[in-house]
Amino acid sequence: MNEFVRSLDASSSAGSRPAASDIARPNAPIRVRDSNEWNFDADLQALQEAYEESGSPVAVNFRSLVPLGSGVDRATHLFHSYPAKLLLNIPLFFINCTKYSSPNDVVYDPFSGSGTVLVEALLAGRRALGADANPLARLIATAKTTHVYPDVISTALDTIVSNIDLRNQLPFTTTIKRDMWFSEDVVLSLGALLYSIRNNTTGNILAFMEACFSACVKRLSVSDPRLSVPVRLKGEALSEHVLNSPVAIDLFIKVVEANSARLAKMPAGCTSVIHTDARQAQPDGAIQVDLIITSPPYAGAQKYIRASSLSIGWLGLAPSDRLRELEKLNIGREHFCKSDYNADITPLLPGAREVLAKIKSVNPLRSHIADTYLREMDDAANAIVSRLRQHGHLVLVVGDNMICGHTFPTSQFVKEIFASKGLSTALELVDDIRSRGLMTKRNKTAGTIEREHVIVFQKR
Ligand SMILES: C[S@@+](CC[C@H](N)C(=O)[O-])C[C@H]1O[C@@H](n2cnc3c(N)ncnc32)[C@H](O)[C@@H]1O
Repeated sequence: MNEFVRSLDASSSAGSRPAASDIARPNAPIRVRDSNEWNFDADLQALQEAYEESGSPVAVNFRSLVPLGSGVDRATHLFHSYPAKLLLNIPLFFINCTKYSSPNDVVYDPFSGSGTVLVEALLAGRRALGADANPLARLIATAKTTHVYPDVISTALDTIVSNIDLRNQLPFTTTIKRDMWFSEDVVLSLGALLYSIRNNTTGNILAFMEACFSACVKRLSVSDPRLSVPVRLKGEALSEHVLNSPVAIDLFIKVVEANSARLAKMPAGCTSVIHTDARQAQPDGAIQVDLIITSPPYAGAQKYIRASSLSIGWLGLAPSDRLRELEKLNIGREHFCKSDYNADITPLLPGAREVLAKIKSVNPLRSHIADTYLREMDDAANAIVSRLRQHGHLVLVVGDNMICGHTFPTSQFVKEIFASKGLSTALELVDDIRSRGLMTKRNKTAGTIEREHVIVFQKR
C-alpha cells in the first residue's frame, strides 16, 4: 500500500474520516466538477518565452490571467477565514497547466493553511496532500476537502439543534481568558452547542460541524473583526458590536447551510491527507508527489496560532491547553527565551549575514527570529524536495518583508534554500498586486509585503 492510501486508512481509524454511510448516499446531487474547464497551456508558453528571452522575472497579474472576479465564492474557499490565504487564481493556474500536472496526480502543499491549494487540486481531479503545524488550519482544510452530501449535513444539523440543552456544557479549555472575549450568554450557547455537536456527530460530519462552529467563534467574540488576531473592541465600537451580535445558534445554522452548499460543489467522495509538519521525513515506501505549490510562512510576520486562539480554546486543540507548545512547531514564530539568542551565530546563508547583523543592532530577538526561520526553512526544504518526484515541479509563492525597518529579502533567501536542494529554476514571475492578506503593519518591526514572487522549480 502506498503512503497516500496508508495515510487515508490511518486517519479513518482515528475517527476523522467518514463511515462509508457518510458519503455513499442515494439520490445525491450530481457532482459539480470543473476539471478540463480550465487550460492555461498557451498562457504558460507565452510567460515561459518571455522569461527565457529576458532572463529576469516576468510581471504578471494573476487576477487578469485567471479572471474570476474579486471575492468569488468558488467551491469551499470561503468556508472559513484564515490569515494570509493564497489567491486561489495562482494554484488554479498552475494545476491546470498540463506541463505541471495531469488528472489523478498528487498535488502537495507543505504549508497548506486553510487548504486553498488542496481545494483547487481536488476540483481539477488531482489528489491532495497537505501539511500544516496549526491544528485549526488542518481542521478547516479537512472540512473543506472532504465531501459530505447536503442531506447528511441537514439531518445532522437538525439533530444537533434539537439536542441543545443549556445544562449540558462542554468544559472550557484554559488557552484563552474566556470572559475577556465572550459574554456570559455566548459562553452558555457555544458550550451547549459544542456539547451537542460532539455528542451527535462523528467522523467527517464532526469535522465539518466543528469547522463551522469555529467559523462562528470570532464573530461572536468581542474582538475587532477587521484584525486577524484577537484584539478586544473598546468604547463605542464595543457597544455597537454587542448590539449587532447575532444569536449564536442562528449564526451556526446559517454558516452550516452556506458551507453545505459550498461543499456540494466539491467532487463527490473527495478527501485529502494532511500532515502536521512540513519538516516531517518521508515515510518509507511513500509515493512521490507530482507537483508542489506552496506559500510558506514568513519570519515573524503572521501570528497563525494567536490568530486561531479563540477557536483553539473552544475546540481544545492545544496540547495541555498551551498555545506555546503549538507555536514551537511554527516556522517564523516569535517567542524565544533570552538565553536562546544571546550567543553569536554563523548565519546559514552567507548572503543573509549583513541584514541579520543590521537587524541585530536594532533588536537581537528579531535577528534570532529571522535566523531561526532560515534554518528551519532549510530543514523543511530538505523534507519537501525529497517528496517531489524526479522532473516534478515546485511552485513557490513568496514575497519580502520588513524587519526592524530593514528589508528582509525572504523571496531571495527562500529561493536560494530551495535551489540548493537539487532544483533548477524553470520560471520566475512577479505579481505586483498583493494577492493575499499578508498586511502586517506592525510598528517598526514588521511591514507590508509589496509584491509576490512566484518561482517555479523543476527537480533534476
Ligand atoms: C502563508 S500560510 C499558508 C496559507 C495557505 N496557502 C492558505 O491559502 O490558507 C503559511 C502556513 O504555514 C504554516 N506553518 C508554519 N510552520 C509550519 C511547519 N513547520 N509545518 C507546516 N506548516 C507550517 C502556518 O501554520 C500557516 O498556516
